[in-house]
Amino acid sequence: MAYSLGGVAVAGQPLAARPGDDDPTMGAVDVIRVTGGARLAGDVPVVGAKNSALKLMAAALLAPGRSTLSNVPRITDMALMAEVLRRLGCQVDAIESDALGVELAVDVPADGLGAEADYDLVRRLRASICVLGPLLARCGSVRVAHPGGDAIGSRGLDMHISGLARMGAEISGEHGFIIATADRLRGATIWLDFPSVGATENLLMAAVLAKGTTEIDNAAREPEIVDLCDMLRGMGAQIEGAGTSTLVITGVDELRPVAHRTVGDRIVAGTWAFGAAMTRGDVTVTGINPSSLEIALDKLATAGASVETGKDHFRVRMDERPAAIDIVTLPYPGFATDLLPMAIGLAAVSDGASMITENIFDGRFMFVQEVVRLGAEIRTDGKHAVVRGRDRLSAAPVRATDIRAGAGLVIAGLCADGVTEVSHVHHIDRGYPDFVNDLHRLGAHVERVAAPPEPEFGL
Ligand code: EPU
Repeated sequence: MAYSLGGVAVAGQPLAARPGDDDPTMGAVDVIRVTGGARLAGDVPVVGAKNSALKLMAAALLAPGRSTLSNVPRITDMALMAEVLRRLGCQVDAIESDALGVELAVDVPADGLGAEADYDLVRRLRASICVLGPLLARCGSVRVAHPGGDAIGSRGLDMHISGLARMGAEISGEHGFIIATADRLRGATIWLDFPSVGATENLLMAAVLAKGTTEIDNAAREPEIVDLCDMLRGMGAQIEGAGTSTLVITGVDELRPVAHRTVGDRIVAGTWAFGAAMTRGDVTVTGINPSSLEIALDKLATAGASVETGKDHFRVRMDERPAAIDIVTLPYPGFATDLLPMAIGLAAVSDGASMITENIFDGRFMFVQEVVRLGAEIRTDGKHAVVRGRDRLSAAPVRATDIRAGAGLVIAGLCADGVTEVSHVHHIDRGYPDFVNDLHRLGAHVERVAAPPEPEFGL
């Protein structure tokens, strides 16, 4: 089944289901062939952040009428979120579009808004769980399929659930659904055990229409949360503390639709920054406030890169082989877990041994065995990976296991002798609007082709 972004095609479309694919979201199993030895150089623009735009679309549910969102990335996850909203009774249309971004209009009905997100979509788009808070606030009851774990880890929802319960929701689980009801949520003080991005967003979107004041302590501080707060405030919500660990939300009776521009994607921008450093290149990334990547850029400078920053762009140039550096992922403003595959790739070609520590997802190192296929020397133990760098990797067929691992493997392929084939690149389509063309623009030799049919074995 193909999903569209308001009539606009997204990367990798059209989609045809193919038996045996582990992720039926995309169907067609394409591969990217990467010729090693390229040096990335030039300018590359980034569009709005997937992890913001998905939540902004959910936030639109909070107000009847037409909200518009610009700088929305043309990626599969946005098309899936559009389908989630359509099944709830909204109309989602693209009103402007270019190669990377789309302006979307989301028309939300005043009455008769649906209150169910089914497993068919939630399993394809885990982030659909972010409709839980806004639907509960708007409809008083909601059924959202439990998404389960995925390729990067077990991914709990306990903080989403206990936070809503503190606000007076009755919550149960049945036949794979989370079911929540509340005539009207009421303000509460909620302490999160961990600054979960998703829990902060769900509770925030529930609290804006609750009766009374909600305080979320140990809240996530990611730029995407600040973006969501900005949009909600534009809709009439009363929120203090955006970008800090304490959010104070005074509930209002109703919100109004808004026009909002999505913040730039710091993870896509960071991918290009690491690509420049790994290939001893020179890349200027535009459309991003570099302060959202402060630690990542600082790490690259420690590895030997020259980094220049402006208001909405930065440039990374690396002339020598990168020096080995240690990296620890942490909630924002720490080093982003979504850049972990790029950190491993950098370490794999650095001069010396690096220790990379992952603190957010228990399965994030799953893709490491694919980097090892490229000749990298990596040992993992629990949260840690010790990587001994090599001057050059060695091309091999590898498989993308998730969005970021996929992008990281393609970039690593640029540092290998020969042609690396990265399969299951539909994962990359979920987060990078025009990855192959951006690589061309930066001088890389890459091509996307349909995977040859799998041989059939039988008895
Ligand atoms: N967690 C719990 N219980 C909860 C909530 C979270 O145990 O109730 C755990 C998770 O299992 C995980 C950790 O806390 O181990 C972090 O989860 P968090 O809620 O912060 O992450 P998320 O909202 O599920 C978002 C991004 C991820 C990004 C993380 C961390 C979206 C759609 N996803 O996930 O992005 O890695 O924050 O920054 O916003 C990606 O874009 O490729 C991606 C995976």
